[in-house]
Amino acid sequence: MFKITTNSAEETENFGKMIATLLRGGDIISFGGDLGVGKTCMIRGIAHGLGVKSNVTSSSFVLMRVLQGRLPVYHFDLYRLSSEDELYDIGYDEFLFSNGVSLIEWSDRLGSLIGDSYLQIDIEYDFDDSREDGGVYRRIITLTPHGERFQKFLEELKK
Ligand SMILES: Nc1ncnc2c1ncn2[C@@H]1O[C@H](COP(=O)(O)OP(=O)(O)OP(=O)(O)O)[C@@H](O)[C@H]1O
Ligand SMILES: [Mg+2]
Repeated sequence: MFKITTNSAEETENFGKMIATLLRGGDIISFGGDLGVGKTCMIRGIAHGLGVKSNVTSSSFVLMRVLQGRLPVYHFDLYRLSSEDELYDIGYDEFLFSNGVSLIEWSDRLGSLIGDSYLQIDIEYDFDDSREDGGVYRRIITLTPHGERFQKFLEELKK
């Protein structure tokens, strides 16, 4: 496990950019955390770190967007997924188990379909009482590896 605290959207994006340097084709990252906590923000950093030039936005009515960087990047937002059938309709597995990098918001909707090799990134609000504005900018980001690939990944990240 690896934990980091960020104090702004920019810091979260920059952490995403850093993560991107360690990614390779076929990697899957699952994002958990409450509405508006910063999942898309971190994905934006990762995508830009992977060389994506286009805007990376929240896509609540689009289940998946294809972005192109040094690797194909598949940005899933499953918030509005209503049934497993919708996943089969978009052929999700051809993206997930391919040479691209998959970044998945609300991946709990996938259940075990995500497979057993992925990095789980959970983002939480951390209220900072010392701030006059209530400290709504602080986030705790926790990375949990699933499978050997991401155990090694976290060892690299810690260096
Ligand atoms: N430390 C921080 N890290 C990330 N975002 C932050 C931080 N501090 C403030 N923010 C703000 O929080 C918001 C995060 O929005 P974002 O769309 O990334 O969340 P989300 O988790 O993807 O939401 P949704 O559940 O709707 O998909 C942005 O407005 C961002 O500027
Ligand atoms: Mg989002």
